[in-house]
Amino acid sequence: MNIHIRQARPDDAPTVFALVQKAFEQEEHSDHQEQFLVEKLCLSTGFIPELSLVAELDHKLVGYILLTKIKIVNENSKTSYTSLALAPIAVSPEFQGKAIGSKLIAEAHRIAEQLQFGSIIVLGHADYYPKFGYKKMIEYGIKMPFDAPNENCMLIELRQGALAGVSGTVSYPKEFGIQ
Ligand SMILES: CC(C)(COP(=O)(O)OP(=O)(O)OC[C@H]1O[C@@H](n2cnc3c(N)ncnc32)[C@H](O)[C@@H]1OP(=O)(O)O)[C@@H](O)C(=O)NCCC(=O)NCCS
Repeated sequence: MNIHIRQARPDDAPTVFALVQKAFEQEEHSDHQEQFLVEKLCLSTGFIPELSLVAELDHKLVGYILLTKIKIVNENSKTSYTSLALAPIAVSPEFQGKAIGSKLIAEAHRIAEQLQFGSIIVLGHADYYPKFGYKKMIEYGIKMPFDAPNENCMLIELRQGALAGVSGTVSYPKEFGIQ
């Protein structure tokens, strides 16, 4: 299977919308609004075009991943560290389980590192992201701005020690509708 990962183009937007909607349709832990989140994030200041990626199979879009900027804020030291949030990743239901998600994550990591980002946070499946090196946020003294099981709140350092001295609470941009 020849999967090609490339940067999403503006004209991919309707296909990406439908793909994300479909992928999350059967997801238990979903508000089924992820397709709208993508629309909003792609217009936000945290959007990085190089980190909005589609997976193509025979010119058909079968997967999508988006990494956007967030901050880790420490109220005590009044410091703020820029990181990335992985949200969402989606693979068309009929193409799941064929390593397309893995390829999207690997390519997103590669590009994020190239762009000098040090870390990525994610709220997601506790048994999926550790395959790619994600660890529990709590181990780094970093927490989400809402209550969620520790096992679902994860992060990865793209360079060893990238988060040395960084702790605090994740601050999502308003597009996530969290504040
Ligand atoms: C999660 C998702 C992106 C994974 O994409 P995928 O292409 O099916 O994943 P891969 O084929 O690369 O799977 C890699 C590994 O993760 C496992 N895996 C896949 N989906 C998983 C899930 N939801 N939970 C736990 N493990 C999962 C696979 O079995 C595989 O394991 P293996 O390496 O031991 O064989 C895809 O299933 C999807 O779009 N799901 C609906 C949307 C969603 O839940 N997004 C993530 C929100 S946190």
